Amino acid sequence: MRETIEQQLFSVDEIAQRVQELGQQLSLDYAQLDPLVVVVLKGSAVFASDLIRHMPISLQVDYIGTSSYGDDTQSSGQVRIVKDIEVNLLGRHVLIVEDIVDTGLTLQYLLATLGLREPASLKICALLDKPSRRRAEVPVDYVGFSIDDHFVIGYGLDYASRYRQLPFIGVLKLEEE
Ligand code: PRP
Repeated sequence: MRETIEQQLFSVDEIAQRVQELGQQLSLDYAQLDPLVVVVLKGSAVFASDLIRHMPISLQVDYIGTSSYGDDTQSSGQVRIVKDIEVNLLGRHVLIVEDIVDTGLTLQYLLATLGLREPASLKICALLDKPSRRRAEVPVDYVGFSIDDHFVIGYGLDYASRYRQLPFIGVLKLEEE
């Protein structure tokens, strides 16, 4: 397959602006709640690193690792936790940070699994939302951008574990060679 970056969907400046707005909104909403920010590895690491630096409030950060795509562009539909969080969720206000909601299966699984640990609240912040591909209805409380059905890479998002380091978000095109 030949891989080309077909189109730049969101520029460095557009991302920075939107992430700042999200951080400001979250800081207002969580000001008194000492939230636990749960970053869903690996894709969300870049977004979350920028987001929390726009949240000058009391908070904690932990990381959870999930995998469903392998090296494919299609979700296998089978979500696995490959690294669990270390903090106790009981009574905590938990904010899950995702880079993208696609089928919704990852978040459906995380909401069910983390919900069993009795947090005080459990909400979702996603940089990108692709509603046209949804297979599980999940409430996304904070959304950066809603996008059409493109395969997107950059700013943490990968194809076969590559392109995560791009500072912008682009659309990947795959062609037979
Ligand atoms: C991606 C992305 C989300 C999930 C969204 O993770 O980071 O976690 O897929 O897709 P869904 O809504 O269809 O479940 P992936 O499993 O590719 O792992 P990665 O973040 O390590 O690349």
